Amino acid sequence: MVNPEKRIAELRENILDADYKYYVLDEPDLDDYAYDMMMKELEALEKEYPLLVTPDSPTQRVSGKATQKFTEAVHKVPMLSLSNSYNFDDLLDFDKRVKSLLGDEPYEYICELKFDGLAVSLVFEKGYLIRGSTRGDGTKGDDVTGNLKTIRSIPLRVKSDTFRNFEVRGEVFIKKDDFLRINEEQENLGEKLFSNPRNTAAGTLKQKDSRKVAARPLNIFTYYLRDENASLSTHGENLKILKELRFPVNSHWKKVKDIDGVKKYCDSIEEIRDGLPYEIDGVVVKVNSLAQQEFLGSAGKSPRWAIAYKFKAKEKTTRINGITLQVGRTGTITPVAELEPVFLAGSTISRATLHNFEEIRRKDIREKDFVKIEKGGDVIPKVTGVVLSDRPKDSRPFPEPSKCPVCGTKLEKPEEEVYIYCPNYFCPAQIQGRIEHFVWRDAMDIEGLGGSIIAVLLEKGFIKDFADIYSLKEKRAELLKVDRFGAKSVDNMLQAIENSKEKQFDRVLFAIGIKHIGERTAKLIAKHFGSIDRLAEATEEEIDDIYEIGPAIAKSVCDFFRDAKSKELIKKLRKAGLKFEIDESEKQEVNEKFAGKVFVLTGTLQKYSRNKAEEIIEKLGGRTSSSVSKKTDYVLAGADAGSKLEKAKKLGVRILSESDFEEMMK
Ligand code: IVH
Repeated sequence: MVNPEKRIAELRENILDADYKYYVLDEPDLDDYAYDMMMKELEALEKEYPLLVTPDSPTQRVSGKATQKFTEAVHKVPMLSLSNSYNFDDLLDFDKRVKSLLGDEPYEYICELKFDGLAVSLVFEKGYLIRGSTRGDGTKGDDVTGNLKTIRSIPLRVKSDTFRNFEVRGEVFIKKDDFLRINEEQENLGEKLFSNPRNTAAGTLKQKDSRKVAARPLNIFTYYLRDENASLSTHGENLKILKELRFPVNSHWKKVKDIDGVKKYCDSIEEIRDGLPYEIDGVVVKVNSLAQQEFLGSAGKSPRWAIAYKFKAKEKTTRINGITLQVGRTGTITPVAELEPVFLAGSTISRATLHNFEEIRRKDIREKDFVKIEKGGDVIPKVTGVVLSDRPKDSRPFPEPSKCPVCGTKLEKPEEEVYIYCPNYFCPAQIQGRIEHFVWRDAMDIEGLGGSIIAVLLEKGFIKDFADIYSLKEKRAELLKVDRFGAKSVDNMLQAIENSKEKQFDRVLFAIGIKHIGERTAKLIAKHFGSIDRLAEATEEEIDDIYEIGPAIAKSVCDFFRDAKSKELIKKLRKAGLKFEIDESEKQEVNEKFAGKVFVLTGTLQKYSRNKAEEIIEKLGGRTSSSVSKKTDYVLAGADAGSKLEKAKKLGVRILSESDFEEMMK
């Protein structure tokens, strides 16, 4: 028998090591399966030996409970902000001031990227991360330790004899492509879009539920180290130490000997800015020597030893030739500005989304208006405002459409939503959109079936919906007669269609495009119900009961399965051989009486340990919680149950004895 303590330590070491290689070095050396197995083993051991759970265990990255309110975190040393400069003359002034204050002393600068995210502080004691907080007003921020722990590139413990009690600061951010993906999900869910990666990161850090934070890909770059007991000499050294301690440090920093070097650095970064996978809004210049930094001190809230050189947001003025309306796969009508093409920050821009009609009204954007287009290293060009002085005399506000531009059906606007919808399921734009979604990389992943091919297939009557894709192989000969459909590309496409039949049930569920069902929701639902037949029979209440799933999703799922058209589609797909249940290995023996129910355990049970009982409940599809509330379905009470039992009685929650529990399991 292996010593559990030893095995736990070994697993943690291996997992933290794998996290470091994956998230910091970007050189993964383990496959997902091996990683998951280690995590599962560790979880099982910790469940068995709860006393061995420590806060630095990788299992503790996501805590099980939502905080009601963040507590205040006072910064030992204030978190300053930087004074900004927008042109090179400002930088020269900064350098002059540094030079005159330092007298004859030589000095150097460290140049770094200015990441467009949120500053956070990480406090370590005895080598362990004990607190993580936001900058707040500089003096005190919010304690968001639980949320920051979900960032797997942050070490929960450092191995060092020198550095034990110290503070690290850095910038939390979201990568550009993750931002686009999150917004796509938000759109699918009919939820508000984030305006940029920075706001997405900020919104995520403020989440009360760290499980939701963990689902969002937050990253961090660290750029500050303070340790009263270590002899630290320069900022450049600190960056190297941070890297050795396994913190993520961006590699673009550079030591330069004078302001000319700074200028060269700024120019070189502006060149590569658009190609970086994360957003930056400038460069930060810092005096390298920490002694000199201290000597220079600060003026108000900004240090005299550092300055930010901000890139100008690239902006141009161009004309809106017209506003067109796009119809999404769920019928959403999106207004799009068709622009007189302009070259801006590396690409030609001829269209920009105007999001919705509230946005058009708010900014009073009209056809033929001259507008300012901004691209700040940003992913999406924005229309920031109208040049009113150039507005044509006969200009009229852009009217909200009443009919679908594609099929002419009367549009609808659900209460409390900003979007307008075309309710016609057979609207050609929706049909095309649904098929595009179905074949999309993250759904059925059918390569070679892009938008224009789908359009041709629809137009020539080869397909009417996405289920028809699976009968294309019977029409190979006719397909080859279509202009520009070569034998090779047709065969590749047919093969990709065949291969897609191997996709797991949750992907299929996502691909069929039920309104509000994103990838993550599809996974949760697939796992919970196990098969489409069980899902189709589920009531709104049962779906709503799944943790993390709300009433809007539940209603949408039920609406979908009530619809005869959906039944017909599923029938066709089933015939084609798609997976409509989860694989045997993923199956849980879900018990109707347990499915979706919340249990609270209290007191001592005779036959089961607390862990064993929890395991049984979860295996049968239930959930456990540690506190009794109105959401609790059952309290399983053993001997000497105390306050939880009292509370359950007060709230009228059903109380189970151990034998009731066994009865339920049957
Ligand atoms: S150093 C006084 N380094 O810019 C030192 N800050 O206006 C300030 N920021 O709150 C921190 N990249 O959110 C530093 N490489 C970098 C930075 C950086 C982005 C942000 C940070 C800070 C703000 C200061």
